Amino acid sequence: MRSLLLLAATGFAAAEDGLAGWLRYARVDNDRSCLARLPSSIVTLNATQGLPVHTAGQELAQGIQGFFGKKLSIDERDERGRPKNNRPAKGGKAVTVGTVAAYRASHPREAARLPELGDDGFYLSVSRGSALILGQNERGALYGAFRWLALLGQGNCSDVTLASTPDASIRWVNQWDNLQDGGTHGSVERGYGGDSIFFWDGEVRPDQTRAGQYARLLASIGLNAVVVNNVNADPRTLTPELMDGLARIADQFRPYGVQLALALNFASPQTLGGLPTFDPLEPSVQAWWDEATNELYRRIPDMAGYLVKANSEGQPGPMTYNRTLADGANMFARSLKPHGGIILFRAFVYNHQTLNQTLDWKADRARAAVDYFDGLDDDFLDNVVVQIKYGPIDFQVREPVSPLFAHLVKTATAIELQITQEYLGQQAHLVYLAPMWKELLDFDLRVDGRESRTRDIISGKRFGRRLGGYAGVVNVGTNTTWLGSHLAMSNLYAYGRLAWDPDVTSEGVLREWIALTFSDDRRVVDVITHMSMVSWPAYENYTGNLGVQTLTDILLGHYGPNPASQDGNPWGQWTRADGDSIGMDRTVWNGTGFAGQYPPEVAARYERIETTPDNLLLWFHHVPYTHVLKSGKTVIQHFYDAHYAGAAVAQTLPALWKSLRGRRGIDRERYEHVLFRLEYQAGHALVWRDSINNFYFNKSSIPDELGRVGRHPYRIEAEAMTLDGYVPYAVSPFEAASGTRCIVTRTNSTRATASTVLRNVKTGVYDVAVNYYDMAHGNSTWELYVGSQRIGRWKGDHEYILGKAPSPYIDGQTATRITFRDVRIRKGDVLKVVGTPDGEEPAPVDYVSILPKGIVD
Ligand code: GCU
Repeated sequence: MRSLLLLAATGFAAAEDGLAGWLRYARVDNDRSCLARLPSSIVTLNATQGLPVHTAGQELAQGIQGFFGKKLSIDERDERGRPKNNRPAKGGKAVTVGTVAAYRASHPREAARLPELGDDGFYLSVSRGSALILGQNERGALYGAFRWLALLGQGNCSDVTLASTPDASIRWVNQWDNLQDGGTHGSVERGYGGDSIFFWDGEVRPDQTRAGQYARLLASIGLNAVVVNNVNADPRTLTPELMDGLARIADQFRPYGVQLALALNFASPQTLGGLPTFDPLEPSVQAWWDEATNELYRRIPDMAGYLVKANSEGQPGPMTYNRTLADGANMFARSLKPHGGIILFRAFVYNHQTLNQTLDWKADRARAAVDYFDGLDDDFLDNVVVQIKYGPIDFQVREPVSPLFAHLVKTATAIELQITQEYLGQQAHLVYLAPMWKELLDFDLRVDGRESRTRDIISGKRFGRRLGGYAGVVNVGTNTTWLGSHLAMSNLYAYGRLAWDPDVTSEGVLREWIALTFSDDRRVVDVITHMSMVSWPAYENYTGNLGVQTLTDILLGHYGPNPASQDGNPWGQWTRADGDSIGMDRTVWNGTGFAGQYPPEVAARYERIETTPDNLLLWFHHVPYTHVLKSGKTVIQHFYDAHYAGAAVAQTLPALWKSLRGRRGIDRERYEHVLFRLEYQAGHALVWRDSINNFYFNKSSIPDELGRVGRHPYRIEAEAMTLDGYVPYAVSPFEAASGTRCIVTRTNSTRATASTVLRNVKTGVYDVAVNYYDMAHGNSTWELYVGSQRIGRWKGDHEYILGKAPSPYIDGQTATRITFRDVRIRKGDVLKVVGTPDGEEPAPVDYVSILPKGIVD
């Protein structure tokens, strides 16, 4: 009682940790009007415990109880429609769930009138309190049940009849989970939500509860397989112990119709099997793979297949033996064929050591996929699917669609999207990705002069192929939020809904996700929708616009700004920025020729500056900073303006979120968690803005027409304060610090102060922002005083709070801003920062801003 009263007093609903994602089954608002329209029992047709139809019955019961408080009995029928248990339905309205085949056996006449369903499809018919949910297969029935539950969860209890078949057969998830923690990539490569839910310490975790919970979320949005281990695969995955463990994971997936798939290391026959070679044309190598595959299928008869990254970023592959990529892929295809499995063979093939930007104007990593795969279209076996990253480089904030989609006509293809926000803010920035995916999926490649949208190529429609679809790199972890951020889960939701039906709108699925994840409170849905829909354009604006890519530190962490890191190395994510000009010349007439990899109509468009959209200008063309865009602005002024505009949008997010405090579905735990991240993002967006603008101002020497860049009237640089125990420090890269310098404690045990007299500040109320650096190895403490009053005290502990890649350096990844609102200041007060270093973190401070209301500097 006491806790209930307390909750009521704070205006917050009971705490939620995010584990249930959008499947919370929380009470809906208009439950009364729905109650009359609900069935009173659930009839399952020929359900077997541990398989999807049975699961569907359980979910329906759980969901309807959660949404409406109505307990439904479950009446299990056998294959002839006879009651299985001793509790036949009491009469009244029922929801019947099963496969079409089971329904046909018990209701042949009614079944004859059903619409045709494709693989995994479902039929859902709700009429005056009765419901019929039939799947083309078992999991189809479960998909139908989840679809109806999603409607009910939004308070939609109307009659409905719909038949739905997924657009594509492959709707996979990739997890980049390592067997072992440690190394440069930890437990989950590019994962920001904690350690692997599957593996720990070289083994499959004994407790696989999370695997089942994950499969439940995935099934509810129509996803059908998970590659459970990293594409940079560990050969030990195929030891008997590991295989036994994998079977345990598959057991958790099976009730949800989710199949297990495995990433393989191409050299396993040698490194694990002890053969002298891993040449794919060597019979002993084929035999080794056949045997390993048989062993896997003996344990996991419904395994979906394999995923292979070969000859890429140091991974072994067929080219090691001068064999083609098709030779390599077909080897796995042969082993899988008898079991009905498929091989997803990645097109992300390139050499990260040989490209030389200085010596070769025409060198271009973007060309690699087409260069390597061209000419192989006739060679792949029919259970090979080439998995192609959406863009030719690597999950950047803006890329053109990979031209390889237009080259493989006979070979099945799948698009690889990234739900984990590797280059896109690592879940510490809100970036809703569905609008970007929609643009890519709807893009018309004009193969043979005909409409050829990416989505129709991968679904198989355009070229008449059976297989194809979607692979999403998700990388959830043990964090109860799964991805490390509650709001980031909209990306997973949207991914599943788009892979099922690319016709859905990014805003529509977002609204659905919000209603199910928080509540259908109008304001909650509108505000989170707005925040999410503005997030990708804002992020593009403040990180890298005009197609220059995401200017993250590509050598370290892929997170904070470091534009210089793109160039001067063989990774090939170049911008070719110099003192006068910027961009990759990918034209045929003068550049790398990449534009010519597209079908003629598209190639012609990208070949000319006039017909290249501004947002891809620097992807395709090398132009002076003074080049005038279609908008009428110069490139450099657009850079400045876009970074200011994008960062300004990020400033609005915390206040928008705060406006939801206490609304229905906004519990304190999630409220605080999200608010913390949005405040952090608002600060880091300014770090981005200033870093990128300072960098290009320094390079081009062209001032900002509006005089903002390099001019910060409200800032007090830490190095200009009176220092006691602190010393100035030149930051590298220079643009990661305001005025290129910060201060650090003299030793890593010196408690230090930086102080200044606020002589030029009028007495009043201000927001005070402190920019500091939160490094990986240490937890310094900072205290901020104005006069005798302590305004705040905080620790450098983001490495435990934000899942983003930590950095041990004072750089754009660790630069952080904290803001204290409504601070009363009197002219002449002493402002003081006290830093206590810890470990390797010398309590670094960059600057303090004293901001009058409404100003951000
Ligand atoms: C990116 C990513 C790597 C990953 C690779 C891949 O380069 O940074 O961590 O291994 O893509 O997709 O294979």
